[in-house]
Amino acid sequence: MDMENIVSLCKRRGFLFQSSEIYGGINGFWDYGPLGVELKRNLKETWWRDMVLCHDDMSTLPGAPEPFSMTGLDTTIILHPQIWKCSGHFDLFHDYMVDCRETNKRYRHDQINGRWVEAKGQKIFATAQAGDTELAAMEKQALKFFNLRNKNKDDLKWDGDAVCLTSIDNNELVLGPEAKTLGTLTEPREFNLMFPTTIGALGGEDDRAFLRPETAQGIFVNFKNVLDSTRFRLPLGIAQIGKSFRNEITPRNFTFRSREFEQMEIEFFCHPDQSQEWYKFWRDRRLQWYKDLGISDDHLILREHTPEELAHYSIGTADIEYAFPFLPPGEYGELEGIAHRGDFDLRSHMVGKLDENSDPLDVQLDEDGKPKWKGSGKDLTYRDDLTNEKYTPHVIEPSAGADRGALAFLCEAYTEDEQPDEKGKMQSRTVMKLHPRIAPIKAAVFPLVKKDGMPEISKEIYLDLKKNFNVFYDEKGAVGRRYRRQDEAGTPFCITVDGQTLDDGTVTIRDRDTLEQSRIHRDEVRDVVHERING
Ligand code: GAP
Repeated sequence: MDMENIVSLCKRRGFLFQSSEIYGGINGFWDYGPLGVELKRNLKETWWRDMVLCHDDMSTLPGAPEPFSMTGLDTTIILHPQIWKCSGHFDLFHDYMVDCRETNKRYRHDQINGRWVEAKGQKIFATAQAGDTELAAMEKQALKFFNLRNKNKDDLKWDGDAVCLTSIDNNELVLGPEAKTLGTLTEPREFNLMFPTTIGALGGEDDRAFLRPETAQGIFVNFKNVLDSTRFRLPLGIAQIGKSFRNEITPRNFTFRSREFEQMEIEFFCHPDQSQEWYKFWRDRRLQWYKDLGISDDHLILREHTPEELAHYSIGTADIEYAFPFLPPGEYGELEGIAHRGDFDLRSHMVGKLDENSDPLDVQLDEDGKPKWKGSGKDLTYRDDLTNEKYTPHVIEPSAGADRGALAFLCEAYTEDEQPDEKGKMQSRTVMKLHPRIAPIKAAVFPLVKKDGMPEISKEIYLDLKKNFNVFYDEKGAVGRRYRRQDEAGTPFCITVDGQTLDDGTVTIRDRDTLEQSRIHRDEVRDVVHERING
């Protein structure tokens, strides 16, 4: 599957556009078009329905240690700046960047790979941005540097495999990804990924705030409010969907790494003794969710983080990863992380976050003997009203990206096949095999021809369906072409009113994937579409 074809379909059919395109675009920001907005809304609504509204808190789900409750929140994007100090984002949420003094390009240090190569008696480290074409890009760089033609590429003597720039101590022999001379990359520097902003008109240091880099903190700081305003007991999951912002150094791979994106996060509060069991439960449940919505087993993996990879708050994380087509074969990109955050966040918001290695309860003092970072000082522990036990809950966090999810479903859905047209001639078609629950348009209604009362009947069916589903009416052009337009939009069902409808009230319903057409009575259309969407 070719990423270029998917990107081109997304633009052509209105799934995704580059933000601010008429001004040349803005790197790392994307707009959802008429089909894309429906796809992403459906994805978010499906997540909310499956995770929050329709999970059964009266009985135990398979794999869950006991019944549990779920509820939701919608918190602000700008939070009290102290929250980011206590969460660790202020001090620890950074990537390393390097600049190229020759081209003025900026790169993430860990996203440059390179290979040692020798020619004309000189050995250099030729680099490229990590990705599926990196080896070709390194070769091009090396040929240019040594002033060799493509036909002389055997003169390049490569030494070892490609390795990350982070493993190279001395930059002097490094040829930057787009540079012509050696040693133009700077030493790596820390770069905090939070977007700063200013509150109010004065704009002093005290007015500095940040756009949230994750939705999670809004949940942690409302934990007590939720308990106090409801009758929920633990175990309890609190869910939130919303925008997050990260000033990514090198946004790329379409929407995969953007600077503005949406997250669908659950903070699941439980007893510490049960946290490992809940961690396993959420890992499996979230993986299954993607499979149930049509992502094939072959394209998904669940990968436990190594200790070095763990984020500053995590004592265990598993990523659900997808074989995005822009990655080299056999490589996967993160779709969702399921983290065991322990009691890190609640403790930090009680007493204050210190530094990377310290226990949040081990308060570090400044020269005046005052705590360096102050927490809220509020009691965020939980008292079980049945056992009277008081404890700081542990938290399991399934954190999914709505945009990465949408991108994975688009990649998975993109299919090119050949199908016979009305005259039996084979025609190639592009079809988006999106699961009916997330498909932007659920059904299209067509009159076979624009006469004999067929448009009128079609419009009646269309208006009836519209009350429950996003449907589309189309009477223009050959019916085969209308079908193919809907295939590209991912519409799972097409309903056609034809001559027979006038006699017996039946219509055809065509299945996008199997191309099977069956006849049903027009009065049944709503129930049949509902049944086929929801299984
Ligand atoms: N609260 C935990 C947290 O934010 P994360 O692994 O940094 O964890 C969770 O982010 C998910 O958010 C990722 O798995 C991904 O789907 C999405 N995400 C993170 N950064 C992103 C970016 N720059 N662009 C698009 N999606 C992103």
